[in-house]
Amino acid sequence: MTGDHVIAKNQNSRLFRMKALCVLLAFVGLSVAIPSDFVFPPLENGGKNWALLVAGSNGWGNYRHQADVCHAYQILKSHGIPDEQIIVMMVDDIANNKMNPTPGKIINRPEGDDVYHGVVKDYTGLEEVAPEVFLKVLQGKKEELAGIGSGKVIDSGPNDNVFVNFVDHGGPGIVAFGRKLLHALDLIKTLDDMHKEKKFAKLLFYMEACESGSMFEYLLAKNKNILAVTASNATTSSYACYFDKKRKTFLGDVFSVKWMEDSDKENLNSETIEKQFKIVKRETNTSTVCQFGDMKIDSMTVSEFQGSSQSNQIVYPIPDPNVGAVPSEDVDLHINMNLFKLASTAEDRKYYSEKIAQESMRRGKVAPLIQKIVSIATNSNNRQVERIMKARMGLFRHECYKAAVEHLADTCPQLELRQQFGYAFKHLYAFVNLCEESVPTETILEAITKGCSQ
Ligand SMILES: *[C@@H]1O[C@H](CO)[C@@H](O)[C@H](O)[C@H]1NC(C)=O
Ligand SMILES: *[C@@H]1O[C@H](CO)[C@@H](O)[C@H](O)[C@H]1NC(C)=O
Repeated sequence: MTGDHVIAKNQNSRLFRMKALCVLLAFVGLSVAIPSDFVFPPLENGGKNWALLVAGSNGWGNYRHQADVCHAYQILKSHGIPDEQIIVMMVDDIANNKMNPTPGKIINRPEGDDVYHGVVKDYTGLEEVAPEVFLKVLQGKKEELAGIGSGKVIDSGPNDNVFVNFVDHGGPGIVAFGRKLLHALDLIKTLDDMHKEKKFAKLLFYMEACESGSMFEYLLAKNKNILAVTASNATTSSYACYFDKKRKTFLGDVFSVKWMEDSDKENLNSETIEKQFKIVKRETNTSTVCQFGDMKIDSMTVSEFQGSSQSNQIVYPIPDPNVGAVPSEDVDLHINMNLFKLASTAEDRKYYSEKIAQESMRRGKVAPLIQKIVSIATNSNNRQVERIMKARMGLFRHECYKAAVEHLADTCPQLELRQQFGYAFKHLYAFVNLCEESVPTETILEAITKGCSQ
């Protein structure tokens, strides 16, 4: 990459269509000037672009998730997708957070431009940023959303393309969503229903979360016109990047920053989804970027999902997000460790060492508690318990696993599953394994009740 600023250029197809329109107007004897805000039909088949952008988390330590989603909004907007067709769900507690040294502004990379301006905020706060709202927005269930947020939905039809971008913490078969969890099976059922009801021509889903591959692996069919690209595979973490001293938090996530950096600089009318995937996979060396579903979508252009107008965005060379990146579930610990290292007074060092100790204690509770539950559920010796704690089995028994995780979230507040505690999510593999080993759901639920109350 050169040091020169690169102007993103997607004007080719627009220019072509502009010329075609001029010829047509000349042919019918009209000599009108084309207004500068003229909107071209975005897709070849006359369909529209729709987009749903979601940051599921809240709190300053999760700054990066809302920053990613605001940046995604700027990309779609600058490539001509109108606000009526972009829906944003985010808690919206960052821009005006008391920790924000630049009130009203959010950035997504070091020294970056504000990405918060103009963002449409359809669903905000922890009540509205919820899995059931998300699934209804996706399916266009307007009536059921009356009085909630802006009430905007993906009002799409058979010729339209839908782009979904979700960013938050995740674990096996789940992603965090405000105070709740979205389960893989519920997501897949909704996508299947949308396919049946002809709610889209093609749907592209970019997901940033730990274990995000597990939301689609073995579940997303190849013949539903849906392609999912995930930050990580079913068993590994996604990574936070760009620790910012002044803001005392991470500004982005590696996979998200990489695809958006690519969209910012490429000509989206000629770049294919496959090309973007390959670039992002190669350049994200912290996690394993994966694809699931209908690979035919790979040959489509990025503009067919992210907009085809020329972007006026000026793109600057950005620092490598892989450098200094940390697994998402370790972010709270790393923020305090980084601040401890940077501390210049004895008082600050004491403050951050106490924070590190607190965070270590919070984490330290997780494994022993889950181990206790596993040992009650299996009534077995240490070696077997250890095996179930460590294994990474594929998830097929979704009903059992969902019941276990929901019961855990309700019964074990110390695991903070309703507070997006990524570190605890990692340990949920023990419950995948219990279900896959055919331990009855009832037995698992009882063990949870017992283990958590002792
Ligand atoms: C996920 O990626 C890791 C690291 O590349 C690899 O060791 C593991 O086998 C992968 N798991 C799956 C389910 O693909
Ligand atoms: C990833 O790439 C960066 C530079 O691009 C390098 O500093 C880092 O060591 C790499 N990490 C791994 C795990 O390969």
